[in-house]
Amino acid sequence: MNITNPPLFSININRAKRSLNTLTVCITMVPAISGNSNSLNILDFVVNKGHGVKGLADLGLKTLPHQYIQPPQERFDTSLEDATHDSIPLIDMSRCDDPKVAEAVCNAAQKWGFFQIINHGVPIHVLENVKEATHGFFGLPAEEKNKYSKEHSVTNNVRYGTSFTPEAEKALEWKDYLSLFYVSDDEAASCWPPICRNEALEYMKSFEIVVKKLLEILMNGLNVKEIDQTKESILMGSKRINLNYYPICPNPELTVGVGRHSDVSTLTLLLQDDIGGLYVRNTMNMKWIHVRPISGALVINVGDALQIMSNGKYKSVEHRVSANGSRNRISAPIFVNPKASDIIGPLPEVLQSGEKPLYKHVLYSDYVKHFFRKAHDGKATIEFAKA
Ligand SMILES: *[C@@H]1O[C@H](CO)[C@@H](O)[C@H](O)[C@H]1NC(C)=O
Repeated sequence: MNITNPPLFSININRAKRSLNTLTVCITMVPAISGNSNSLNILDFVVNKGHGVKGLADLGLKTLPHQYIQPPQERFDTSLEDATHDSIPLIDMSRCDDPKVAEAVCNAAQKWGFFQIINHGVPIHVLENVKEATHGFFGLPAEEKNKYSKEHSVTNNVRYGTSFTPEAEKALEWKDYLSLFYVSDDEAASCWPPICRNEALEYMKSFEIVVKKLLEILMNGLNVKEIDQTKESILMGSKRINLNYYPICPNPELTVGVGRHSDVSTLTLLLQDDIGGLYVRNTMNMKWIHVRPISGALVINVGDALQIMSNGKYKSVEHRVSANGSRNRISAPIFVNPKASDIIGPLPEVLQSGEKPLYKHVLYSDYVKHFFRKAHDGKATIEFAKA
């Protein structure tokens, strides 16, 4: 649609006639996204001015701007997806030293690449606080949020943005995010946005024990008996937390919240609210499985780094997120990653039995750069490390 076309404008004028308040809104909002080059100005409003897609949603658009229209094969056919009742495994972590739990975790990582955990020991209020803080951050005025944009942020470790890589994408994604790379408590205290920093930090730290336990189990499944310092660095040497905001979308059937991709992490932990919309590829039949929100649960998935280190035994699976026409959705993934300066490749313990390496050794920061240079493209990133 063309958002500068006369109908929208005249609707606004009519509304404006009804109330002076609305008039103010129209005057400040409309010029920002109108003009000769519609496409340039949507980008300017959403990306440069920092309004994000939340800013578009707040305008009360009745139709999706054309920049967000995805090619038909990337759109969601929810009628079809709802027909499959498969679900990813649900694992109770309360007795995590039970060999049955270890078996379930390793199985899930091999077959599904995704699972949910409950009874992980992290108090519910920690999860509720980070959700609330996410709503708090995205509820800030655009000028406030934009202080953390690529252009304005005082550090590369804090980044407010929208879509995935707007400069490389043919069609934009209906999502805003705040990305926080953890360096130290002091750095977080001085650079992360005050409205969410304590909540994000507490959430990240509360899951450290669970992350270690899961990695221990997964490494045991690969014949790695102990996580020494070198292993600890390549498995979990760096961490990033994202706060994602998916505002109500006027045409959810035409766009995506996040396009098909796999993560570049070792493991990703994801907290989602009760709305739903995350879909995971079932690698056995290539159908999409909906990840049913479970209160208090966390979604865990294998990332490319772990697929590479396990020489393909653990699967980093494609996933995507739909936009929603009736509710604002948030999610908060924690990406547990190798250190940027680590070289990753199939672990020696995995190749011990003479297995042929499927991947070569790559500098982790090169791998990540490759991922962020392009638009989301399913499982294509890992080609970069193919042997
Ligand atoms: C939008 O959210 C509602 C409420 O959670 C849900 O019932 C509906 O299926 C969602 N729509 C899509 C397209 O995901």
